[in-house]
Amino acid sequence: MGAIHYYEKERVFKLDTPHTSYLIGIVDEEKFLGHIYYGAKITDYDVRALMRTGEAPFVPSQNNRDRSSFLDAFPMEYPGHGVGDYRESAISVSDKNGNTAVQPLYREHKIYAGKPGLPGLPATFGSEEECETLEIVLADEVLDLTVTLYYTAFYDVDVITRSVRVTNHAKEPVYLTKVFSTALDLDAEDYRMLTLHGSWARERQIEYRQIGYGKQSVGSCRGESSHQEHPFVALVSANAGQEQGRVYGFHFVYSGNFLAQVEKNQFDSLRVVLGIHPQDFKWELKQDETFTAPEVVMTYSDAGLGRMTRTLHDLYRKHLIRSPYKDRERPVLINNWEATYFDFDTEKLLAIAREAKKSGIEMLVMDDGWFGHRNDDNTSLGDWQVNEQKITGGLKRLVDQVNEIGLKFGIWFEPEMISPDSELYRTHPDWAIALPGRMPCRSRNQYVLDLSRKEVRDYAYECVASILRSANIAYVKWDMNRQLTDLGSGVLPVEKQGELLHRYVLGVYELQERLITEFPQLLLENCSGGGARFDPGMLYYSPQIWCSDDTDAIERLKIQEGTALLYPLSAIGAHVSDCPNHTVGRVTPFETRGNVALAGTFGYELDVTKLPEEDWAKIPGQVALYHKYHALIRSGDYYRIASYSQNDSFDCYEVVAKDQSEALITFVQVLGRPNVHSRRIRIPGLDEKKKYRVETTGEVYCGDTLLHAGLNVPAMWGDFQSALIHLSEVPDEQ
Ligand code: GLA
Repeated sequence: MGAIHYYEKERVFKLDTPHTSYLIGIVDEEKFLGHIYYGAKITDYDVRALMRTGEAPFVPSQNNRDRSSFLDAFPMEYPGHGVGDYRESAISVSDKNGNTAVQPLYREHKIYAGKPGLPGLPATFGSEEECETLEIVLADEVLDLTVTLYYTAFYDVDVITRSVRVTNHAKEPVYLTKVFSTALDLDAEDYRMLTLHGSWARERQIEYRQIGYGKQSVGSCRGESSHQEHPFVALVSANAGQEQGRVYGFHFVYSGNFLAQVEKNQFDSLRVVLGIHPQDFKWELKQDETFTAPEVVMTYSDAGLGRMTRTLHDLYRKHLIRSPYKDRERPVLINNWEATYFDFDTEKLLAIAREAKKSGIEMLVMDDGWFGHRNDDNTSLGDWQVNEQKITGGLKRLVDQVNEIGLKFGIWFEPEMISPDSELYRTHPDWAIALPGRMPCRSRNQYVLDLSRKEVRDYAYECVASILRSANIAYVKWDMNRQLTDLGSGVLPVEKQGELLHRYVLGVYELQERLITEFPQLLLENCSGGGARFDPGMLYYSPQIWCSDDTDAIERLKIQEGTALLYPLSAIGAHVSDCPNHTVGRVTPFETRGNVALAGTFGYELDVTKLPEEDWAKIPGQVALYHKYHALIRSGDYYRIASYSQNDSFDCYEVVAKDQSEALITFVQVLGRPNVHSRRIRIPGLDEKKKYRVETTGEVYCGDTLLHAGLNVPAMWGDFQSALIHLSEVPDEQ
């Protein structure tokens, strides 16, 4: 039995996932498409009354004199523009007359098994056995424009995805000035808005706010998803916590500009919209051309934030990440960035590799500074030739030597950029994004390549690919260290300049698709000045993303909490680094740095040849912990037990195996406290009937005891202390 049904007599669509339902209705002779319900699973489909069409002001066929009252209050499934609904529209245009109005009305639909891909865009996927798709074609007869709404309901996760395709059938071109990927009208009730904000070195901090009348939003106009705001918004009921309360989550599978907005109107209804930010967006559609708006993931949980988190983790692990590494142990790497910055050569790297090998590390990653004459960040981006003064004898020789030592080799690139001081810029100054007559704004002394141009993409691709073809390279860190300004392309015609930002993002996707197609076994890690492009779009290409340039274990608690709210731990790039920490100057115990990095991909970012002996001696034990727990951490269910960002005192989270046979709890005490006893924590997610052994103490408890009564974590002496608590199932006969 499918997940999607159309009830013809009632003109109602019903989409079901394991615990949720989503209902859409066609209304009136004019065939307005209305939103009926989204939330916990329900049985009935004829709940059209929820759309209030039986109440004043009634539908236009019964009361056309108050048409605007209808349009401005009706729960629209995909609201048009400029014809009576004053709330935020989902789509607007500039047509041949210079007018902006659009009114998409129902024309036809189809329902089928599986899920189509989105051309040129990342998207979740599922087989015909895993999901079902509904396409609803809306039409604006005056513009001769169709708007096709795509909905996919998954059978195994409580997710409905949406995306939109707009096709112009008219002879004259039409310009799209806004195409959101989702719109949802709900009754307001008592929701708060949950978003993630940040900055360089403090990405994805959790924020709640009350929803007031009018519009409140987060967004990015920086050309990437950004450090500052995240392409995500949730509505969270007043009583919601980790395991209770109602939560609607909306996550955008896109890596460029976005707007996520909640609007509360005069009737206390909410309209949520999410999609490409309309600022600086204008897309020309000639006759028969189609624009595809990226996908939005929607999930509803009536069991708190925790269920939303676990749903998204499952969705991304099963239906978004494609890398062969997604279910595989990642090599424990050591990256030389914080160890040497630009000051390295073959000898230094080999010394690090030898020492790393002794401690069990499995891969050396050579970061920024190996090409052109780049000895600082002022030069050479675009000149991707190995600097043989530093890498004597060439790259292949270095890679072979590292391989002989017994380590894999990885390398850093920043392919989207161009330094003013580069051969590339001297040859092709017009390849940089810039405005005519204006000196382009520099950031980190670099410009951004115009990836809307095919020859630029081909050049950037060949630079990366030819290096990868030249040596045995197992891993690439793909960086992007500045945001876009001066939005001008040297080749796009006047009427297409407004396409640059989206074409840039499509260019990045094309490059990464080519890379993983030619090098299917490559482990790709995306990065953007730390975590400025940590989004579901990039996750489609790389199974892991560098989470933040802030590697301090305590700062990471908040950053990783916000990141893990949405993303599986297997995607979160996390390393143990040196102290005093290079970003905040904090000194934390080596164990705590290791314990915090375990909730991610795990690796090192320090000079292992200079490490204090007592720290060095701890690496083999940490690597062993990684080997012991990687499968659990990568595939288990994540539970947030306590949050340092909320309690200012300690952090605690847990990963439980899918079969509930084991669990790993991480406890971090941030500041030591005087005169206290141990701290009680209750352990969620276990099988209440099973028995579990606490590895450190040998004590055995029932799952229900651990869940309801909990465990005492002994008081700790000192700041920044931490403990790992491993529970494993004790078979019945013992
Ligand atoms: C960015 C990355 C760092 C490092 C530097 C190199 O900031 O986030 O990890 O690679 O670039 O310039």
